[in-house]
This record gives sequence, structure tokens and C-alpha cells, in this order.
Amino acid sequence: MRLVFLGPPGAGKGTQARLLEKRFGCRQISTGDILRRHQSRLTPLGEQAHHYMQRGELVPDALVIAMIEGELEQSPSGWVMDGFPRTVAQAEALDETLARRGIPLHAAVLFNADRKTLIARLSARWTNPRNGRTYNTLTNPPLVAGIDDQDGGELVQREDDRPETVAKRLEVYDAQTTPLIEYYRREGKLVQVDAMRSVENVAHQIASAIETESPAW
Ligand code: AP5
Repeated sequence: MRLVFLGPPGAGKGTQARLLEKRFGCRQISTGDILRRHQSRLTPLGEQAHHYMQRGELVPDALVIAMIEGELEQSPSGWVMDGFPRTVAQAEALDETLARRGIPLHAAVLFNADRKTLIARLSARWTNPRNGRTYNTLTNPPLVAGIDDQDGGELVQREDDRPETVAKRLEVYDAQTTPLIEYYRREGKLVQVDAMRSVENVAHQIASAIETESPAW
């Protein structure tokens, strides 16, 4: 299975990508998580990316596209792209790469949620920076505040979840990523889910939509 997840910050893309990885073994490729790992290791890419991410802006296409090429090499049996592509140039680059390898994209899943819900989710999100696992103090709190239930690691709030940066990320999504909705609709790949429902319900919607659109996966 090869999927692209589209949707605004806080829509639940990462949550669902991790579930799909756990349930079906298709690898989550989260460009945000990969860039954050580069930042914590102080790599040259991480340092360049930090400048954009802390402001809620997109990292330049050339950097992200080069990074994704390497990730695809490691995922021959299927993946979910969480947060990539985010611009038409990135989508075109992905299409070219897949065409070169002779492998099709099965679907682009669009997560629909209203702004009030997105802002509420992001301000209550706590993340384990070592593995990207997220909790939510309103809807899915950890058993002990600030601690990952599964590995005991410390949870942090992301620097870019500050209200002013969230506002900028939403603006950037509207301007630079929403054109992809039309892009994938034209390709006949777009499926939509109501991301305001529970985590299990959204997972169910994704599974049903993919079964309908691409029964062979
Ligand atoms: P990235 O890390 O990709 O952030 P994002 O796309 O803005 O998405 P989020 O991670 O904020 O939200 P999500 O949709 O994954 O929601 P989640 O599942 O966590 O990107 C960060 C930055 O990196 C970008 O701003 C940019 O600078 C850079 N970048 C990344 N990719 C790039 C690219 N391709 N090109 C250029 N730059 C790039 O859920 C949110 C919260 O809600 C959690 O607390 C969760 O527990 C909760 N939740 C989830 N689902 C539900 C539900 N159904 N009901 C109730 N609560 C829920």
C-alpha cells in the first residue's frame, strides 16, 4: 500500500499513519519527524530546517525532495507519506520518482477538520520526541502527566505548536498545500475523511475508502 496523507496541522495525519504502520506494516514516512530528528542531531539539514520550522514556514522543496528519495529506498513494500507532499512541486517530484520506479500511488487521503478543532488539538498535544508518539491532554492523556506510557520517555510540547506559529502553519497550509487537493482529484486519487471523529472512526473511514478506491492493496 502506498498512500499520501494530506491535511492541515493537527488533523490527525501522524496518529493515523502510526496506526496503519502498526496494523498493516506499511512504513510511516513523516517528513516533520525526520526533520526534527535532523535538528536534534544538529545535522546541516537540521540546522537549515530549523530556521523555517520555528516560524511555521515550509522547508524549501529541494531539501525535502532529496530527503524523501532516500526514504523511498528503505521502504520497498509500502508506505504512508505523512506530511509530504506539501506543494505542487513536491507532488510532481513524487509522481516522477514513482513513475521511474514503475510503482503507483494508491490514494491521497485528505483529512477534513475545522479550525477550532485543529487549534484545540495542537495546544493539547504532547509528543515523545524520540519516536514521534503523541498524546493529547484532552482526548488521549498519558497515564502519568509528561511521561510516555509505552517507553517511559519524557513528553514535550512542540516549539511550533505555540499559538502564533500554529496560525502561520494554517496560513501556509491554505496557500501552499490546498492546491494539492485539486492535483490529486485530477489524478483520480483523492479520498476524503471526516477527521473530526474519534481516532478509531477515522481509521475505519480510511480503511473503507482505500478498499473502495483501490481494492487490490
Ligand atoms: P509536521 O510535523 O508534518 O506537522 P503538520 O503537518 O503541521 O502536522 P502535525 O504533526 O502538527 O499534525 P497531525 O495532522 O500529524 O496531527 P497529530 O496526529 O499529531 O511538519 C512540521 C513542520 O515541518 C512544517 O511546518 C514544515 O516547516 C516542516 N515540513 C514538514 N514536512 C514538510 C514538507 N513536505 N515540505 C516542507 N516543509 C515540511 O494529532 C494532533 C493532536 O490531536 C494529537 O495530540 C493527537 O493525539 C490528537 N488527535 C489526533 N487524531 C484525533 C482524533 N481523531 N480525535 C481527537 N484527537 C485526535
